[in-house]
Amino acid sequence: MANDASAAFDTLSPAVSKGSLADPFTPSADSSLWRKNFLLGAATASYQIEGAVDEDGRLPSIWDTFSATPGKVLAGDTGAVACDHYHRWESDIDMLASLGLEGYRLSIAWPRVMDAAGRPNRKGLDFYKRLLNRLKEKGITSFVTLYHWDLPQHLEDRGGWLNRDTAYRFADYTDLMSRELAGTVDAWATLNEPWCSAYLGYGNGHHAPGLANDRFATQAMHHLLLAHGLAIPVLRGNDPASQKGIVANIGRGTANSDSAADQRAAHLFEVQHNAWILDPLLKGEYPQDLFELWPGTEPLVLDGDTQTIAAPLDFLGINYYFRTNVASDGAHGFRDVPLEGVERTQMGWEVHPDGLRDLLTGFRSTYRNLPPIYITENGMASDDKVIDGHVDDTQRISFLKRHLAAVDQAIKAGVDVRGYFLWSLMDNFEWAFGYERRFGVVHVDYSTQKRTVKRSAELVAKFLKERKAKV
Ligand code: FCB
Repeated sequence: MANDASAAFDTLSPAVSKGSLADPFTPSADSSLWRKNFLLGAATASYQIEGAVDEDGRLPSIWDTFSATPGKVLAGDTGAVACDHYHRWESDIDMLASLGLEGYRLSIAWPRVMDAAGRPNRKGLDFYKRLLNRLKEKGITSFVTLYHWDLPQHLEDRGGWLNRDTAYRFADYTDLMSRELAGTVDAWATLNEPWCSAYLGYGNGHHAPGLANDRFATQAMHHLLLAHGLAIPVLRGNDPASQKGIVANIGRGTANSDSAADQRAAHLFEVQHNAWILDPLLKGEYPQDLFELWPGTEPLVLDGDTQTIAAPLDFLGINYYFRTNVASDGAHGFRDVPLEGVERTQMGWEVHPDGLRDLLTGFRSTYRNLPPIYITENGMASDDKVIDGHVDDTQRISFLKRHLAAVDQAIKAGVDVRGYFLWSLMDNFEWAFGYERRFGVVHVDYSTQKRTVKRSAELVAKFLKERKAKV
């Protein structure tokens, strides 16, 4: 297997395998990944794996509503059963531990733990308490995301993230969770990928709640970031020993030509994908270029909001998947110009590890107060099949190695990256794409719920074992 993996690494990435970039899983004195304190884990999210959507008092979320709406999710899939993790959590944690993974990033389903009047739902809370206690017993570092997109439907019915009040309801929810779970969580992330919640949810409607208006997107983003900013001091008060942060997805945009217009288009792409979120968090202001791209969409910002949003962070979670090649659209913005002949995944996303390194080093120069970074998601979908009890996910092995090598390069260039979480621990409900797209390092057969460890997970497990023995 190791030979196959190395061969794939060489063929799929000649640029990476030659020169200074070594296979990151090969022991090497100067590799940052071989440092004992570089955390390597896997990530999941509540709606994507739990199922049990109407058990033990869980209320409906916007994703239950959205996925039940015809035409919104591929093949009409929903998260009603998903990986049945709500019932199988113990064996899933055993599996995580048996792979030697050191960290687990999970999210809490807000509609599972609070009723519509804001009172705690004990049964839902107990589920997460048991799970987090088990992780602690196993010595696995827990990263808990409070909001990975499953907004209670009753809040959406009152305007969702377009309603400023939702930010205050999020602070109440954060207060409850951090009082109940204090001491069992190593790191809290307020939000997962506010860009997706705001833009895909309210800007183009590809995600729940399915609204499509640029002005809605900027206002939803403002309320999401406000919710984050209100939650940080609550977490600090209730659970002082844990780390507090937020998770942002970032996108690399490259210009299709050297023309000034295309260079500007690539810049605007990154403003829309990255600076829209990172500038308010780390500079206390929205990038004005955003409103050149979307004229007249300035959100309503009240006095003090920008200071609230820029609350100091202990860490920044970064999710990275692909790069987008763009050209000027001839007006204010950019248009995608997909490159031909490049490697892509089952999602059609281009495999471009250098983008991760370049963005990280870029952030280091742009943001003087850049907090320590965890790569909280990175991975790829492939059409994996179980053959003779095995899943040979060769492309994923190569993908992981190249992205870990890119992280190592960023660290060597001075970026403080402290860990990396694979997306995902197991195949799951991939939002608008349902179950067709398989992102796991563990395969799930949805008809039997059987889990099969893929070759990629075996390789990571082998690496972690070797590293443990060595350092
Ligand atoms: C990210 C999401 C995660 C998963 C991956 C593929 O945008 O945070 O839930 O769907 O993409």
